Amino acid sequence: MSHYYQYDVLIIGSGAAGLTTALTLPQHLRIAVLSKGDLSSGSTYWAQGGVAGVLDDSDTIESHVQDTLIAGAGLCNEEAVRFTVENSRSAIDWLIEQGVPFTRNDSGSADGTSFDYHLTREGGHSHRRIIHAADATGAAIFTTLLAKARQQSNIDLIEQQVAVDLITANKLGHQDNVCLGAYVLNRTTDEVDTYAARFVVLATGGAAKVYLYTSNPDSACGDGVAMAWRAGCSVGNLEFNQFHPTCLYHPQAKNFLITEALRGEGAHLKLPNGERFMARFDSREELAPRDIVARAIDHEMKRLGIECVYLDISHQSAEFIQEHFPTVYERCLTFGIDITKEPIPVVPAAHYTCGGVVVDKHGHTDLANLYAIGETSFTGLHGANRMASNSLLECFVYGRSAAEDITRNDAQVSAPEQLPHWDASLVTDSDEDVIITHNWDELRRFMWDYVGIVRTDKRLLRALHRVRLLRYEINEFYSNYRVSRDLIELRNLALVADLIIRSAMQRKESRGLHYTLDYPELRDPAQNTILSRAKADD
Ligand code: FUM
Repeated sequence: MSHYYQYDVLIIGSGAAGLTTALTLPQHLRIAVLSKGDLSSGSTYWAQGGVAGVLDDSDTIESHVQDTLIAGAGLCNEEAVRFTVENSRSAIDWLIEQGVPFTRNDSGSADGTSFDYHLTREGGHSHRRIIHAADATGAAIFTTLLAKARQQSNIDLIEQQVAVDLITANKLGHQDNVCLGAYVLNRTTDEVDTYAARFVVLATGGAAKVYLYTSNPDSACGDGVAMAWRAGCSVGNLEFNQFHPTCLYHPQAKNFLITEALRGEGAHLKLPNGERFMARFDSREELAPRDIVARAIDHEMKRLGIECVYLDISHQSAEFIQEHFPTVYERCLTFGIDITKEPIPVVPAAHYTCGGVVVDKHGHTDLANLYAIGETSFTGLHGANRMASNSLLECFVYGRSAAEDITRNDAQVSAPEQLPHWDASLVTDSDEDVIITHNWDELRRFMWDYVGIVRTDKRLLRALHRVRLLRYEINEFYSNYRVSRDLIELRNLALVADLIIRSAMQRKESRGLHYTLDYPELRDPAQNTILSRAKADD
C-alpha cells in the first residue's frame, strides 16, 4: 500500500547541497532528505579535490573572481561569481565549525600561507586556494554533515527513494503554478508514495551518466533537471558538459578519477614515449583549464591512435605522494600501478554538468516554492566551463542561501491541501525489460560519439534523431508499465540528453566546453542558451 507524507521541506538528494540546506534550516521545520540509494550514493562522496575559497592572505576575492570569469570563457554571470566568491570564506568556516577534518598545513608541504590549513592548486586557479581533506574531501565533508543531520530530530534521512515527478498545481488543473510535493518510488515496498511539502529542493546532482564514460557514480542521471523541466521550469546552458581530463584507464576500473590536485602538485601529462605535450596547447601547460587539457588529450589520442595518455607524479617523493594522495595511491595499487614509481594511464571522461535548472541567487527556480541547488542548478557561476573545486563551494553557498530564503518565506507558505495518490491502476508489470537495458546502452553510446568533446552539426542532428526515437519508446513503456528505478532514470536521462542536444544545436560557435568543428570561433555577444518549456513541445 502506498503512503502519504507531509513535510515542511522536501529535499531530493542527500549530497553536499541537500545536507547543507537541511542543516541550515531552522529546527522547527520538519524536513525529509531523500536518497535514491544509500545516503552516500551521490557524487559528493567521491569528490577528491576540494573546496575553492579565498583563504590565504596573499589571495584576493578579485583574483578568484577573475580566474572564474576567465575559465568560464565570457559566459559567467559576474554577479553570481561575486556572490559565490564573497561567501566562500563564511561557507568554509561553517564547514570547519561542523567539524570537517580538512588537511592541516603542518602535515603538508610548507607553502607560506598564514591560514592553518593546507591549500592546493588546480587548473585555472592563479593561487593556492583549494582546501581539502587529503584526496578524499567529499567523503570527509559528507561523513561530517551526515553525522550532524543524524543528530537532528527534525530531519528524516530516507534511503532507497527515487523521485518520479514533482506535483504541481498546474498538473492538478489549477491556473497558478506552484510546487506542492513529489511522487516517490519506495524501492523497498515498490510502491509510489506521495510527499506533500511546502517547499521542495532539488539537489540531485548532475547528468554525466548520459555519457558512456564518466567519473560519476550511477546516480548522476539528471533527475532534477528532468523533473523541473516537466514541471515547467527553464533550463540553461546544458550544452556545457565538462570532461575531466584524467580518469584512470584500466579495464577493471569503473569511474575512478585521478584528482586534478596531482597536476596542481606538479604531475606531468605524457605520451606513451614519455614526451610531455601540454606546452604545445597552452602556456599554462598541465594547469590550463579542464576544457583545454581534455581537448589536448583527445587530440593526441586521435592523432596517434592511442587508447590513453599518462599522468606522471613519480618525480615527487614517495612520502609526499602517499601523504597527499592516499586514495589515489591505494586505488591504483589495487590495479598493479605504483604511482610513486610509474605513470598512471588516463583518459578524459564526462564529469560535470555546468548547466541546469535556472535559479536566482537563493537557488529559487521559476516555479514557486521550488529550489534547485548544486550541480542540478544553473546559477551562472560556471559559465562555459567550470573551474575546479568551485562546484562544492557552490553547493554550500547556495544551499545556505536557499535555506535563508525558505526561512524568510516560511510564514507565507501554507501546507498543500490533500494531494491525489499516484495512480497505478492502468499499468502492469513489464515483461520486456530488455528495452530498458538496450536503450540505456544506446543512449550513452551515441551521446559519447556524437555529443562529446568535439561536435559537429551532423553529429548533433544524428543524435537528435536517435534521442527522439528513444524517448518515444521510453514514454510508451512508462505509460504502460509499473515504474522501476531503471525506467525512471532512463526516462530522465533521455529527456536531459534531448535538452543537451537542443542546447548544443543552438550554439553556433565554439566556447568553453562546447567545441564544434563547424563553428571553431567565438561569436559576439556571449549568450546563455535558455530553453523554456513554453517555447518547446516537450
Ligand atoms: O580533480 C578533481 O579532484 C576534481 C575536482 C572538481 O571537479 O572540482
